[in-house]
Amino acid sequence: MADLSVEFAGINFKNPIVLASATPTMNAKMMKKGIEGGAAGVVAKSLFGESGKMGRKYPRPRFKLFDYRGYPGYPDRLPHSFTLHSLEECSSFDYEDYAKDINETKRLIGDDGVVIASLSGATDEEWEKMCEDINGTDADLVELNISCPFAAEMGIKMGAGAVDLAPGIVKLCKKNLALPFSVKLSPQTLDPVVLAKEVEKAGAYGVTLSARLSGIMIDIETAAPIGWGSIGGYGGPYLIGYGLKWVSKAYGVLNIPISAVLGVWDWEDIIRYQMVGATTTQSAAAIMLRGYNISKKWIDGIKNFMERKEYKDLDEIRGIAAENIKSTKDVEREPKDVYVEIEKNKCNKCGICVRSCFYDAITIGKEGAVIDQNKCERCGMCVEVCPNRAPKIRRG
Ligand SMILES: Cc1cc2nc3c(=O)[nH]c(=O)nc-3n(C[C@H](O)[C@H](O)[C@H](O)COP(=O)(O)O)c2cc1C
Repeated sequence: MADLSVEFAGINFKNPIVLASATPTMNAKMMKKGIEGGAAGVVAKSLFGESGKMGRKYPRPRFKLFDYRGYPGYPDRLPHSFTLHSLEECSSFDYEDYAKDINETKRLIGDDGVVIASLSGATDEEWEKMCEDINGTDADLVELNISCPFAAEMGIKMGAGAVDLAPGIVKLCKKNLALPFSVKLSPQTLDPVVLAKEVEKAGAYGVTLSARLSGIMIDIETAAPIGWGSIGGYGGPYLIGYGLKWVSKAYGVLNIPISAVLGVWDWEDIIRYQMVGATTTQSAAAIMLRGYNISKKWIDGIKNFMERKEYKDLDEIRGIAAENIKSTKDVEREPKDVYVEIEKNKCNKCGICVRSCFYDAITIGKEGAVIDQNKCERCGMCVEVCPNRAPKIRRG
């Protein structure tokens, strides 16, 4: 039987799945559902101080889903490339009620799951007060959210590349927090790995990589934003590659564990993150779209995979793909034994490959597409655009 348990910052998780700080972790009852749904841990929705709340007691959430799954001609090619555009800043609780809710979460969950408080101060005073309040709770772990993409002053500064702010916050919290903590970083910074290393040096017990980007979509009929009108959190499964990149790069450099988050849609993504070096993997958007119980399916998927591949535990998997990632200079670029072949029975002569071959290497003959091997760069573009997958990269 495959062992899915992991240890992160000295805390045991029964599996690597953690609900990321977001709508599904707004309060104790919701977090309990997350654990009942199969996750091993929950990161509570971030606590903000007054400065992050834009003058409101609680800025209510607003969502819009940009779903590209029906993109004409390629219904099966972009299965999970939607964007969940969201405006949702902080917990609805003030400091006192947040601490109470963390305790209530622990009371409801008990030893079935790890409860992680998420703090997002904007000033030293806010951080200090938050640390003090959380010390008095039953939280198992804390996540310092210095990454909010659009709302908190801190996130904006970090997004603007203010890397030097992070170590100061970490040192302050190290001094004031009695609990182990991970630091959640923004991908909208100059180099998240440099930032992660700084955060490690300043005393973090782990890093969470990473928050989402921020973005917007414009309706050309109205010349106005689609949805709720402002720039908001912009992410979704299409960002998985971005997340994998930063985790793979941080893995070789850090001596503290990584909690991966960004773009998880299915159990394979959790394995992917393990393979580039993550210890736990968090999910927000997939839980919001697929429900709390999806974690159970993910666990089944991970277990079946591990048993099929005869992996005993996740330590055996962690980081094994990171070492297979080539530097771009090492990618094979000369044709040598690589060529493109058209499977004639699959070609419907639509000509899509011709318009996407910028080397004029493809013509449409009587029996379908024909490749001029002398002109072909072996770039793989025709393989990607063909609706029937008629072109194939061959070796030999
Ligand atoms: C609606 C929504 C609210 C979020 N709120 C928070 C938050 O309060 N604190 C935080 O650290 N991250 C927050 N996030 C970011 C998520 O925790 C997560 O980092 C991000 O969504 C990427 O993961 P995903 O691709 O699985 O959604 C939020 C994300 C969403 C979609």
